[in-house]
Amino acid sequence: MTAAADAQAPEQYGLIGHPVDHSWSPFIHGMFAQQTSQNMVYRLYDIAPGDLERQVGELFTAGLRGLNVTVPHKEAVVGFTRELTPRAGRAGAVNTLILRSDGTLLGDNTDGAGLVNDLRQNQQVVLRDSRVLVLGAGGAARGVIAPLLDQLVRELTVANRTAARAHALCDEFQDKGRLTACGFDAIPGRAFDLIINATAASLHGVMPVLPGGLVSTYSVCYDMAYGRGGTPFTEWATQQRARLVCKGWGMLVEQAAVAFQLWRGVRPDTWPVMRALAQYQ
Ligand code: ATR
Repeated sequence: MTAAADAQAPEQYGLIGHPVDHSWSPFIHGMFAQQTSQNMVYRLYDIAPGDLERQVGELFTAGLRGLNVTVPHKEAVVGFTRELTPRAGRAGAVNTLILRSDGTLLGDNTDGAGLVNDLRQNQQVVLRDSRVLVLGAGGAARGVIAPLLDQLVRELTVANRTAARAHALCDEFQDKGRLTACGFDAIPGRAFDLIINATAASLHGVMPVLPGGLVSTYSVCYDMAYGRGGTPFTEWATQQRARLVCKGWGMLVEQAAVAFQLWRGVRPDTWPVMRALAQYQ
């Protein structure tokens, strides 16, 4: 290939996960690239656990410039990424890999920023001084705790089916303060300003059993899961007459926008993508 033709070859990005065929990321990054006139392609790479490090190395050797990372690899990638941003280190999970000019990889995590940006900019939710309840203590919850506390929420309660896991998670973030852990049965029965479902319960089609009185007419209920139609959590929230009920589509688009900016140095406009995805919700 000539140098001129090589210079015009689109730069390559993609998503690693297992499975990945359901992913909206090629659609989202494709729209961002078109909107900002970036010469790039974005592909899906289904990589089973066990051979992750070697296959990621091969992708970058083959010319990739950046990768998004999804389930189940977000924590495993931490193990072989030499440098992490503070927020990725804090989350113990990577959702974005960036190839730097010296050939080394930087691991970042844009999930928390994606949630906060969606809540603040798209949903107009005021986080400062609010009372927030996060349901779940797995990887999804871990990634959003520090970003929420950084928004100066008044208090953050992490409640989990297995209470010990909530306590263990909160212990890691104790230095940030304003954080309490409990089991579902011990959630204080006062209404919260914001309730975020970070459990995998929606994916299993179930709603955790929660005490009454958690939702008021000023409450915002946010399910980090996304898909077509309601989830058990959003249906519960609607029955409870929450002020605003959201699924995680906005978080998906916003975390992608932060990753895109890290890779390409240009901030895409997320609204056209949100509008385009609305028909699938
Ligand atoms: P992820 O990385 O998606 O967060 P995970 O680490 O397996 O996945 O965590 C799943 C979370 O969903 C956990 O908080 C889990 O609760 P436990 O720690 O008690 O297992 C929660 N979860 C999964 N299924 C659930 C259900 N049916 N009801 C309530 N919580 C559930």
